[in-house]
Amino acid sequence: MDIFAHRGASGSFPENTVSSFKEAARLPIFGVEFDVHMSSDGELVVIHDETIDRTSNGMGFIKDMTLEDLKQFDYGGWFSPEFRGETIPTLSEVLDIFQPTELILNIELKSDVFPYNGMVEKVLAMISKKQMEECVILSSFDHSAIQLVKKLAPQIETAALFMEVLVHPLDYIRSLPTNALHVFFPTAVRPSLKEIYEAEVPVRAFTVNEPEQAKTLKQAGVQAIFTDFPEKMASLLNNQ
Ligand code: G3P
Ligand code: CA
Repeated sequence: MDIFAHRGASGSFPENTVSSFKEAARLPIFGVEFDVHMSSDGELVVIHDETIDRTSNGMGFIKDMTLEDLKQFDYGGWFSPEFRGETIPTLSEVLDIFQPTELILNIELKSDVFPYNGMVEKVLAMISKKQMEECVILSSFDHSAIQLVKKLAPQIETAALFMEVLVHPLDYIRSLPTNALHVFFPTAVRPSLKEIYEAEVPVRAFTVNEPEQAKTLKQAGVQAIFTDFPEKMASLLNNQ
């Protein structure tokens, strides 16, 4: 079973920051997951929430702030004083950390709360400019964004994110279409996913920080997990 560092190595470093990604980049893992929003001046920034309130010393909605506004705040001190000085990274800056790389980068498009018009096109243009088509997976809870990715760039791998699954998930994901399912980990063992495993559609589960959960998911046929503790999970799974 493969391991993705969730928001970078976010159990030990402030999530979605340069330090969390540099740590993830040195680990023996399969990939790294991170989240993308769009600022008021159309810049793609890597951060989880719709606001900067939880993970910075500032406040406000990302959609209402320019990149210059967003860059004024500190995104490390909330986690630990030793990380003070971390700024919000742009998508471009994060992709550059991983150039060149053997890792798969899972970019989650956070357009499920605010639509961020034009975000999909901008993300695809950035990936193309950096020639990173082969090493990315684009995922989203906003399945219209996944549809648009597949329409504009069918060669890019995608995943539809789900907290719960439908009664007939295989029909649904084929109709989108998408390459894979990323699910809240208890959903990965639901009987309704049997048809997905039988069709060999990749299922990846978030967010798995307990070894016992990881073992159960591996037995169920889950292809990969997202974890905040990639180093610990990699050594546990590799030594089984
Ligand atoms: O992409 C998997 C997982 O990150 C989705 O949930 O809330 O951590 O972005 P969240
Ligand atoms: Ca995410």
